[in-house]
Amino acid sequence: MKLYELTDEERIKYLLVNDYIDNKQADLLKSREPLSQDLADSLSENQVGVFGLPYGFATDFKINGKDYVVPMSIEEPSVIAAASNGAKRIRNSGGFSVNVSDHIVYGQIVLESVEEDTLTLLKAQHDAILKVANEAHPSLIRRGGGVRTLEFHKYDNLIELELGVDTVDAMGANIVNTILEKTSKEVAAITGCNVLCSILSNSGEGQLVDVQVDVEFEQLSTKTMSGSEVAQRIVSLTEFAKKSVKRAVTHNKGIMNGIDAVILASGNDFRAQEAAAHEYAARSGYQPLSNWQIEDDRLHGRLLMPIEVGSVGGAISSMPMAQLTLAIMHISGSKELRSVIGAVGLANNLSALRALVTTGIQAGHMSLQSKSLAVSAGAIGAEIDLVAAQLNSEKNYSLENAKKVLRELRNK
Ligand code: MEV
Repeated sequence: MKLYELTDEERIKYLLVNDYIDNKQADLLKSREPLSQDLADSLSENQVGVFGLPYGFATDFKINGKDYVVPMSIEEPSVIAAASNGAKRIRNSGGFSVNVSDHIVYGQIVLESVEEDTLTLLKAQHDAILKVANEAHPSLIRRGGGVRTLEFHKYDNLIELELGVDTVDAMGANIVNTILEKTSKEVAAITGCNVLCSILSNSGEGQLVDVQVDVEFEQLSTKTMSGSEVAQRIVSLTEFAKKSVKRAVTHNKGIMNGIDAVILASGNDFRAQEAAAHEYAARSGYQPLSNWQIEDDRLHGRLLMPIEVGSVGGAISSMPMAQLTLAIMHISGSKELRSVIGAVGLANNLSALRALVTTGIQAGHMSLQSKSLAVSAGAIGAEIDLVAAQLNSEKNYSLENAKKVLRELRNK
């Protein structure tokens, strides 16, 4: 039985019997109550409800030799299917190899009304400022993190102090902002300058993830196209993306489909991730974040980009569904979470490109969208699958047609 043919109850059972979740976690899923009233009220303001998104999981991920099912939360049909589809082709070719950098979050203290000698004064106090910064967050030092770098940059009458902080497993926004605000007071006292602001940077330069795969041609073939032709066409489309920003942004959107869905399911900050990803894509003119080329009779794929997440702290630690996501994947820390998220991005990218250069995207996309069209047309319960099946057989995916099919079904 294919997973997509099971009911949601049966899929929960699948997770249970395969030891991805325990009985308590199964009950949480069955309850369909992702947040308590109190927790919702404590997370953001003027709360009047909880906004729902489907929570599912992609299968067949083999990353650095470890098997994963990957929870994803997303409203778009076909993203989870595409992730699993890409992951399976990659698994059958040996899996994903992922390297992750340390977890360095940058922060900026900006000084204004600087004097001629302010920069010299700051440079002379480099070690003293670094000491103050490290003392600002003793628990971070205890966990093995700390302020690793301190640089000064001058821009006309402004000076920036740029701190690079190893935040270990935390996403780090609060840690870095606390360090910056405490340090800035000392810096103001040393220099006599005004502090214009102290804030982390969402640049993901210190949080790069390097995902590589070598896909066998036979994993790419379709009924009408050989694997090597599909591979060559994926390479050509990638080359086109390097020349066309309009294509590059869509290429990257396909990568972000997978990345954002895991970021949401793990309770992480998707705005930070989006900002970091597109800054990285634009560092020398907007470019695709992944590259595909033929190497030794295989399709070699590489995704090099920042993944800006934590595995502890804030909403991640307080939201039961975020905890569930980490538990299902047996995540040991932020480095592992980043490697999984990067792999999902490349899997979604492979699936999208393969579909685009072969059957086109609509064939698979619309047949998966037919269920949500049926619901939009008013279908309930068993009607949903019946209307969707009819839309798929007619290949007419308008809302009007879905309403007509539903009317006919009810009049039978
Ligand atoms: C749709 O959500 C994503 C794609 O447009 C990505 C791409 O074009 O590469 C299919």
